[in-house]
Amino acid sequence: MSTAAIIPAAGLGLRLGGETPKAFREVGGDSLLVHAVRGLKAASAADLVCLVVAVPPGSEESVVKELGPYVEGVELLVVAGGAERSDSVAAALAVVPVEGIDCVLVHDAARAFVPVDAIERVVAAVRAGAAAVVPALPVTDTIKQIGPGGEVVGTPDRSTLVAVQTPQGFDPEVLRRAHAAGVVGATDDAMLCERLGVTVVTVEGSTDAFKVTRPQDLLLAEALLAERRA
Ligand code: C5P
Repeated sequence: MSTAAIIPAAGLGLRLGGETPKAFREVGGDSLLVHAVRGLKAASAADLVCLVVAVPPGSEESVVKELGPYVEGVELLVVAGGAERSDSVAAALAVVPVEGIDCVLVHDAARAFVPVDAIERVVAAVRAGAAAVVPALPVTDTIKQIGPGGEVVGTPDRSTLVAVQTPQGFDPEVLRRAHAAGVVGATDDAMLCERLGVTVVTVEGSTDAFKVTRPQDLLLAEALLAERRA
């Protein structure tokens, strides 16, 4: 059986600054989106057959051209994204083929450097029967819950917390049901599944799967690439 991957890449990335939408910012000569696509393609155990990318409306054609050389043997579909990340994922999910796909990965262009082994752990867990899978790492900061005035109202036990990453993996039918039910303000797709009562399984993530969000993350990305290319 085979995997389809969705990459929402329609965000503006305001926290990163600059004129170019985040997914199209370059690191080491390639856009974050190209790095993300290369990573998914390199995860050979995932058996990627279809890739759907959600992009800023109007840039569909140029993205088809940009990604062409990196998706040999994979069906590439490019759709216009929406106002929120979950709208972009929903637009992409609507064109994922129903037949022959046993796993749908939902990735972020911004997590462009996730290593192959982390991707393959997610796919393996879905194929082993999990309906929803997230790569996760323990949190290293102490996390506080705050009230409306910024005052601390609680400190959750850190040993029970993890930070989750992408790609997140899903049974295709469960992901479709989760998006059909919809939740306003969902920041990831696993959250939509949780609201349905679906058990979300964690697998080990990777520090390389950090999300490029702020300008210093670009420096980290350059350093990581230089190390990988050395
Ligand atoms: O903004 P944030 O870093 O949370 O975005 C995560 C991913 O979701 C990025 O790859 C971004 O391009 C994508 N996104 C999207 N459509 C939006 C907002 C974000 O595809 N409306």
